[in-house]
Amino acid sequence: MVNIENVRKDFPMLNKRRKRDGKPLIYLDNAATTFKPRQVIEAVLSYYEDFTANVHRGIYELSQEVTNLYEDSREKIAKFIGARKPSEIIFTKNSTEAFNIIAYGLDWKPGDEIVTTVMEHHSNIVPWQIIREKFGVKLKFIDLTDDGSHLNLDMLEELLTERTKLVTLTHVSNVLGTINPVRDVIRKAHEVGALTLIDAAQSVPHMPANVRELECDLLVFSSHKMLGPTGIGVLYMRSGVEEHIQPPFGGGEMIKTVTLEGCTWNDMPWRFEPGTPNAAGVIGLAAAVDYLSELGMDWVRKHEIKLTELAMKRLAEFDKVTVYGPKNTKERGGIISFNVEGVEGHDVALLLDEFENIAVRSGLHCAEPLHRKLGVQSSVRASFYLYNTEEEVNLFCGTLEKIVNSLF
Ligand code: ALA
Repeated sequence: MVNIENVRKDFPMLNKRRKRDGKPLIYLDNAATTFKPRQVIEAVLSYYEDFTANVHRGIYELSQEVTNLYEDSREKIAKFIGARKPSEIIFTKNSTEAFNIIAYGLDWKPGDEIVTTVMEHHSNIVPWQIIREKFGVKLKFIDLTDDGSHLNLDMLEELLTERTKLVTLTHVSNVLGTINPVRDVIRKAHEVGALTLIDAAQSVPHMPANVRELECDLLVFSSHKMLGPTGIGVLYMRSGVEEHIQPPFGGGEMIKTVTLEGCTWNDMPWRFEPGTPNAAGVIGLAAAVDYLSELGMDWVRKHEIKLTELAMKRLAEFDKVTVYGPKNTKERGGIISFNVEGVEGHDVALLLDEFENIAVRSGLHCAEPLHRKLGVQSSVRASFYLYNTEEEVNLFCGTLEKIVNSLF
């Protein structure tokens, strides 16, 4: 049985009080980034205090030790997402860099087609727009259902052709919270021979996610959204897929031999990790994975469903508030975006901050096309994580109620 108060004690940031009135920080911006438990902070510190050396580059003991830590971390992360082997895990700077590795690494021909969705974060739209300009590929979008809450997957049949080279979509929308049926999409994409890429930045941190069950070829996620350090991300590449992807960045460690005439690539996954890697980040991410595994991803998901159900129920009572995304909490992650009728999103966020030190995000959440589809200028987003409590959710809803009542 997980004791939430004990969990909260692990997070130094949760002790923060506002200087002017001593109010505790109510952090509901976990889709943007998450707080780090002491265990992760200590793991990062341990790299600087006990293991500072470059990985893969020395035969002296310390370099071997840190290399082992780095590669053991890879193994742990591979297991966490159900990868068949550690060499399927490539360390990147973040999810955005992982998308760009695929964008610049695939061998595009004019007329090739990419299918993505209007629900994507900019990091899963802009790289493909750049590729479209560079190589003359076609970019197609799966639209939303009429109520704006799900993907209209009826379109898929028409969008997929024998020219589709890549189908890329988010597992969980960072605005609507919608959990997309990615396995169905992946199966259909594979029928036309396309590669499949999943944005798991909002799923891997929050629910059990297994690449073998999803049957995806590629999947990306970011450490800082799952209790880990910033500056480190993961690109899962199913074994064999590397044959289709040329390393877009060159440098040390990603090669086997170099002559003035040319070079040969290193084995997987190192051929996609040029230069000195972020060893502290990788070690910290492995500590985050340990922390999450200890709690259990089933528990994390259940806890977020509980908080989301509570918030959705209360927000449904406010007739001036529109909540976007699915009504059924089983179909959504712990992300709730909404608007208060006639009030700018930033103003609502400012008032939540001002009244009760509640941190939410407002604006476009790096998903401008989605907001255009919804027909709104911006939205306010509350997003929960494993350390949030029902009391915090009640305070958030109660404060929003006060704001609405004071404005109308
Ligand atoms: N991608 C992060 C978000 O959705 C920054 O807020």
